[in-house]
Amino acid sequence: MCGIFGYVGNRQAGPLLVEGLKKLEYRGYDSAGIATINNGEIEIRKDVGKIEEIERKVALSSVGGTVGIAHCRWATHGGVTQKNAHPHVSLKNGISLVHNGIIENFSDVKARLEAKGYHFETETDTEVIAHLIDSHYRGSLKDAVLAALKELEGAYAFAVLSSKEPGTIVASRNECPLIIGVGKGENFVASDVPAVLAHTREVVYLKNQEVATLTATGVELFEKTGKKLRPDVHHITWDAAQAEKGGFPHYMLKEIFEQPFAVTETTEGRISDHEVLIPEIEQLLDVKRIIIVACGTSWHSGLIGEFMLEEVARIPTEVEYASEFRYRNPIIDTGTLVVAISQSGETADTLAAMREAKEKGATVLAIVNAVGSSIAREADVVLYTKAGPEIGVASTKAFVGQVIMLYLLTIHFGWRRHLLDEQQVRNRIRDLRLLPLQIQQILDEREEIRKLAKRFATRSNALYLGRGINYPIALEGALKLKEVSYIHAEGYPAAEMKHGPIALVDKEMPVVFIVTKDDRTYKKVLSNIQEVKSRGGHIIAIASKGDKEVNGTADEILRVPRNSYLLNPLLAVLPLQLLSYYVAVERGFDPDKPKNLAKSVTVE
Ligand code: G6P
Repeated sequence: MCGIFGYVGNRQAGPLLVEGLKKLEYRGYDSAGIATINNGEIEIRKDVGKIEEIERKVALSSVGGTVGIAHCRWATHGGVTQKNAHPHVSLKNGISLVHNGIIENFSDVKARLEAKGYHFETETDTEVIAHLIDSHYRGSLKDAVLAALKELEGAYAFAVLSSKEPGTIVASRNECPLIIGVGKGENFVASDVPAVLAHTREVVYLKNQEVATLTATGVELFEKTGKKLRPDVHHITWDAAQAEKGGFPHYMLKEIFEQPFAVTETTEGRISDHEVLIPEIEQLLDVKRIIIVACGTSWHSGLIGEFMLEEVARIPTEVEYASEFRYRNPIIDTGTLVVAISQSGETADTLAAMREAKEKGATVLAIVNAVGSSIAREADVVLYTKAGPEIGVASTKAFVGQVIMLYLLTIHFGWRRHLLDEQQVRNRIRDLRLLPLQIQQILDEREEIRKLAKRFATRSNALYLGRGINYPIALEGALKLKEVSYIHAEGYPAAEMKHGPIALVDKEMPVVFIVTKDDRTYKKVLSNIQEVKSRGGHIIAIASKGDKEVNGTADEILRVPRNSYLLNPLLAVLPLQLLSYYVAVERGFDPDKPKNLAKSVTVE
């Protein structure tokens, strides 16, 4: 994920570009840069580090000129180096360009451009776009961009300048976000709305493969055929606080809605049709055993990881509460890989467990969301979940990112240890690609969950039950409810409830079963539902669309689309997150500020 910002108008661009970048820093903070056109010449400053550091080093904001583009990077193609930082250039026609996304056919296009004499300076896919536009330049930057789009495959949002047209920015997108801020005597382009709100509330949401040209005096919009379109300008009514929340009333809801992106961003650059790419673990492929350490929701994702890694990659895996692990004198040898999972990368217990493991000779791989955090820095290998910053105290999208990363690890291990053949890898990747749309479908059908929440909100206890890979989802559903609505909830293995919790069941007790098809425990869970039903429990089932067997057993059914048994948990968790959120709101609590809880627990 990266951030893009552009300005054209009559003010000095430098300070505005830096200010815009700071608003977008959550999208990427390993390097940043800006390009302006100053006295007819392109001027570029860029470096690695956070924006503040780069500003101190190279004074980004003092670049001259009243038109410019800016970028903050989270590397996917090419390492974190000054050279690979954006903007990228193609000097024949004074092109400079910033880009977010991945160009999938970049090596084919690169080969064609090299044959035409273009020389590549960086390892990025972005440089390909700059040279491609340059190669099509015949006096109109907009026409060159339209011609280039025909040759580009993949996800992108970009903004481009040419020193031959010093008062113009051209921008386009496909799948990655990009908006135009329409001002008076000035215009803006940015990856999201909050970045322009200090200057304008009039916004055009660019659609896939549309091309916009921005000058100080206007914005023109074209479809990919070159036909001119009338820009559809939206007036943004959100206040500053709402803007940060993207128009949602709470961060928690915003982040629940960002989960389709958490999937695509985390997989970006890591999958092709037939393989998973995790070069970072090349030295770790023959590990004998895995110990996962984590806390809270991250511990739940670890439990799903345990299931996947044992089932598919056949690696003995244990999951430990980080806080318990370090006081247990754990047995670790050089064949042990310790996987530390953390959203914040700062949880004191996880950090301490990881240090303990390293001291005992284990290699530590961290799955972390916050770039540059302590756990990320101290691990031997770090894999970032790219869910974006998570502000809501109750973790949602980071959980999805973690499970996706564990799934990718599992397929990679399975393939490289010869337990999956190529067709099986293809199938698993195909399943993964279905997920963002299926998540979106659940979000679109949330009304039923909201209605259920109204009834649920009056209860004082709840039981969440699941088996196999869905057992951690029962734990996560119960945790979410406790965290934000303060209703007492317990997650339990569905069969184990016979040994205790069933004593609590009566008609006042909602019992939430996760009973998705495709799981080998499906029939068993149906029997467990019957057991609870016969004791008068009020049953809410999270079940697969099209499953008729579950009808008649549950009092209420929330349907989720069907994927593979390994990915169904990520669909089942959605209604539970939404349920907790709506119950909290119904009971009058602020889900973003649950009492007594902290987002990042940096004390033991
Ligand atoms: C706190 C947060 C939880 C989170 C847990 C672990 O309890 O409120 O949402 O799951 O810490 O945090 P980490 O940042 O290590 O994933």
